[in-house]
Amino acid sequence: MAKIVLAMATTHGPQLHTTVEQWQLRVKADKGRTHPFRGKMLSFDELVQLRDIEGLDVKSSMDSQHKYHARCHAAMEQLADKWEEVGADIAVVLGNDQNEVYETEELNPPFMVFFGDKIPNYPQTEEQRAALPPGVAEAEHGHATEEYTEYPGVPELGAHIIQTMMENEFDVAASKIWPKHARNGASHAFGHIYRQVMRDKVVPNVPVYQNTFFPPNLPTAKRSYQFGQIVRKAIDTWQSDKKVAVFASGGMSHFVIDEEFDRKFVSAIKNHDKNYLTSIPLKDLQSGTSELKSWISLAGLLENEKAQMNEIDYVPCYRSQAGTGTANGFYWWDLAR
Ligand SMILES: [Fe+2]
Repeated sequence: MAKIVLAMATTHGPQLHTTVEQWQLRVKADKGRTHPFRGKMLSFDELVQLRDIEGLDVKSSMDSQHKYHARCHAAMEQLADKWEEVGADIAVVLGNDQNEVYETEELNPPFMVFFGDKIPNYPQTEEQRAALPPGVAEAEHGHATEEYTEYPGVPELGAHIIQTMMENEFDVAASKIWPKHARNGASHAFGHIYRQVMRDKVVPNVPVYQNTFFPPNLPTAKRSYQFGQIVRKAIDTWQSDKKVAVFASGGMSHFVIDEEFDRKFVSAIKNHDKNYLTSIPLKDLQSGTSELKSWISLAGLLENEKAQMNEIDYVPCYRSQAGTGTANGFYWWDLAR
């Protein structure tokens, strides 16, 4: 039987692939819209007012931002070193899409498992890049290759996950050929793992998508957890001698950072607090924070594991006094023993 030897949970956002100076490009966009925060939609100015006592002026100073940046990059290196050290043969990557593979208004599966043999990665066209929000095109190199590239899939494991899902009354979408209009091939949630954690030495892998962002077909936290439990069942029953790694790619709180929420969340994952994780309401899993559903799936997958959760770092990368930015976290579990 296949054996899971490693699990990793990591954020993947644009701030990890841009300079502190480029982070400032996003602040302009932050000011122009409302943001979900603790169940309410608030403007930039309302957030500044509400969070006045948190000292976010200091936490978002340029000096602080440079420190966040350095810590994140040190943590990314550590995570990639750990990946290399373990030497898994195969990966299953739990992630999401943001209008990159699926034009969400055209078709948007709540859960999708890829079981083809080729996963493409390539840069967007100049026209597509120009249409991106400020500070996002600049980050593309973090997940997309400069030239057209193909990574190997694992058709047998992908198909086995799909069959196991169906047998367990979990009806997932199945894809064997990568959707042709995908902007970068694999979405940034996956490209980040390929480029930053695997350092472009990509092992055969199964991309597993869930729709975390876009209503109306948002899976609940409970459903995401159950999904992970069945992915586990599938890997455990796959007739293979391969060593498997599982990734959760996404989160943490953004585009408004909520350290209290993140700390509680991490502690729940660490302590296998299924009740907490499965009852997080959708209103608390909005916008970029919704990507933590991939982590909830990973928690379902690790439900009966004794291995400790290891934290490399948790870095709340504030970019403004309103608390906008992305909280970044880097975690792993050694399941080889
Ligand atoms: Fe993302």
